[in-house]
Amino acid sequence: MTEKIEELLRRVEEFKPQAAAEIEEFRIRMLGKKGELNALMEEFRTVAPELKRELGQQLNRLKTAATERIAALREQMQNTAEEHAASEEDLTRPGSADELGSRHPISLVKNQIVEVFSRLGYTVADGPEIEDDWHVFSALNFPPEHPARDMQDTFFVEKNPDILLRTHTSSIQVRTMERQKPPIRVICPGRVFRNEAISYRAHCIFHQIEGLYIDEGVSFADMKQSLLYFAKEIFGEEARIRMRPSYFPFTEPSAEVDVSCNLCGGKGCAVCKGTGWLEIMGCGMVDPNVLKANNIDPEIYSGFAFGMGIERIAMLKYGVKDLRLYFENDVRFLHQFDQAL
Ligand code: PHE
Repeated sequence: MTEKIEELLRRVEEFKPQAAAEIEEFRIRMLGKKGELNALMEEFRTVAPELKRELGQQLNRLKTAATERIAALREQMQNTAEEHAASEEDLTRPGSADELGSRHPISLVKNQIVEVFSRLGYTVADGPEIEDDWHVFSALNFPPEHPARDMQDTFFVEKNPDILLRTHTSSIQVRTMERQKPPIRVICPGRVFRNEAISYRAHCIFHQIEGLYIDEGVSFADMKQSLLYFAKEIFGEEARIRMRPSYFPFTEPSAEVDVSCNLCGGKGCAVCKGTGWLEIMGCGMVDPNVLKANNIDPEIYSGFAFGMGIERIAMLKYGVKDLRLYFENDVRFLHQFDQAL
């Protein structure tokens, strides 16, 4: 009988089922009513009393071993089944889509504007965000007492000599004139900084795109035609422009450019405040003093310059009502531009 018990113990140890059903079969064979263990119990009744103690212990050991092994195997089987269900090899699992980002509306509009002007022969120029007084103000004919130099508008990094954050990208135009002889045709996109309180319509950091065209015989009419072309490309074929006299230290004469309101078609609405027109940029003929400061002979050359805020163009194009949205990186806002362009 001891031999039989030992043989069964070995079978319990060596039992390696392939499927859950095999475990159940094994359990019935070992521990079931007509199983091996009960058969041994029958036999146990008939053995001599002096052997009962020893054999009883052996039988108990076998019973425990079989019960524990069956429980362990069941658990193991369950775990592998779960793992398998969760593994990548499960071809029935639904695929997980990669989330795609979208372009920021400021980049979208910037790229569009650059593209329109590149068709007119302009190339993109770049420059530093931290500038000196010369490139931001002096070379552009700002008088020493001009309010734009005031602490209230400009972020100064250092005083005397003045190092500051550029307040407009006209500084890139100065750097281009330093480097290059006319003809010059550049478009200058970039970040600019002004010390303004942040609200729905103003921010201390925003983006500009400015343009400069210098050659022999460049006229105001050339400027007007180029800006009309730009307005039609960005706001649609029906767009019209008008120019109102204005003042900038670096241009003479200067003008503000309005585009006909694309929402109401010029009839007047809330966005254009009933006027039918939207202000989009400043422009003008480059002041001879600016040409002289940059070693370009104003007797031979003339040119025009223009500048606009990208946030403003994007607001008008996409109906964005609060400038702060551009800087918050809220994906619910950004995802609305997935399909744009
Ligand atoms: N630099 C001007 C600004 O920042 C814009 C401008 C550029 C106006 C060129 C006229 C000509 O407001």
